[in-house]
Amino acid sequence: MEFSRPFLNRLLLRRNHVFDQRLSEFKQGHRKIHAKDQDGNTLLHLAVLENRLDHLEDLIAYGLSTENENKWGMTPLDLANFLGRKEFLPLLRARREIAPITIYRNSDQLRHTISLKEFEQKLGIDYIEHLEFEHPDYLKWVAAKSQKQLKKSGTRKMNRWTLALHKKAIMAPRYDHIYIRYVSAEIGYGVFANRDLPALTYVGEYTGIITRRHAKKTRFNDYVFGYMIGPKNSPFIIDAKRKSNFTRFINHSDQPNMNSRWVIAGGITRIILFTNEFIPKGEQLTYDYGKYYWRSRSAPALI
Ligand SMILES: C[S@@+](CC[C@H](N)C(=O)[O-])C[C@H]1O[C@@H](n2cnc3c(N)ncnc32)[C@H](O)[C@@H]1O
Repeated sequence: MEFSRPFLNRLLLRRNHVFDQRLSEFKQGHRKIHAKDQDGNTLLHLAVLENRLDHLEDLIAYGLSTENENKWGMTPLDLANFLGRKEFLPLLRARREIAPITIYRNSDQLRHTISLKEFEQKLGIDYIEHLEFEHPDYLKWVAAKSQKQLKKSGTRKMNRWTLALHKKAIMAPRYDHIYIRYVSAEIGYGVFANRDLPALTYVGEYTGIITRRHAKKTRFNDYVFGYMIGPKNSPFIIDAKRKSNFTRFINHSDQPNMNSRWVIAGGITRIILFTNEFIPKGEQLTYDYGKYYWRSRSAPALI
């Protein structure tokens, strides 16, 4: 992949480390704590980019906001998510508790609300609320492409509408509208409506690890979602096998009650799912995996 364009050379993610220099400029009184660099990054962004967990608490104590957006619309929390810096997350999102999730237990036929930690233990995955990039260069590439898309007026308008309706739910997801339930040995788990969901309800973001598309490597991975940036496929996929959220448990139907679309939020393209019809409480949520998915698998059950 080629990263030669000037945008990228101006470094969203720096190769030369500048955090120490900026911090010492602040300590010597040559720079204000809230000062931003040409990319809109505060010292807190730089601490995340340069993996300086040792300074995080001090910077927050100095009053640096964890919600400040850089030029690409990314907060320090977004960057920590995208770069998989898990140990940064509790400090950066101190003010927001992650919502719990509901699972249906077939043994007592009751729904139980459990913490995400319990969920991870039960289902054997790491729960990530946002995309994570396998390599910082992938984030850089995706951020650049997403910004380019936003320059197209059609995309910008559509994106603005989608964000006006769903930005809060995308950035700070809640999980009380769905529950997870074991369906059968053939199908495994599935996701169900925990209340009536009107048509066009936002359901969730398909999260996972952004990695290169390798036909051979991903052929037998059941948890791969093609990563579109705008109308085109990108060289990446979302791999939800080891790390993801509840959306990786959503099953396929030829007559799905949800659709997916891409949206640019927090500086990068995300794939979101929303209902395409009224879904009554208790019904299973489905989307169409597309014509290629079932080519190398036995035919899907009717859902
Ligand atoms: C993304 S996962 C969905 C969650 C999965 N049920 C689980 O428990 O992890 C995709 C896999 O679920 C199963 N699956 C999804 N939809 C199905 C369907 N309509 N019929 C049969 N199996 C299905 C297949 O094993 C498929 O490879």
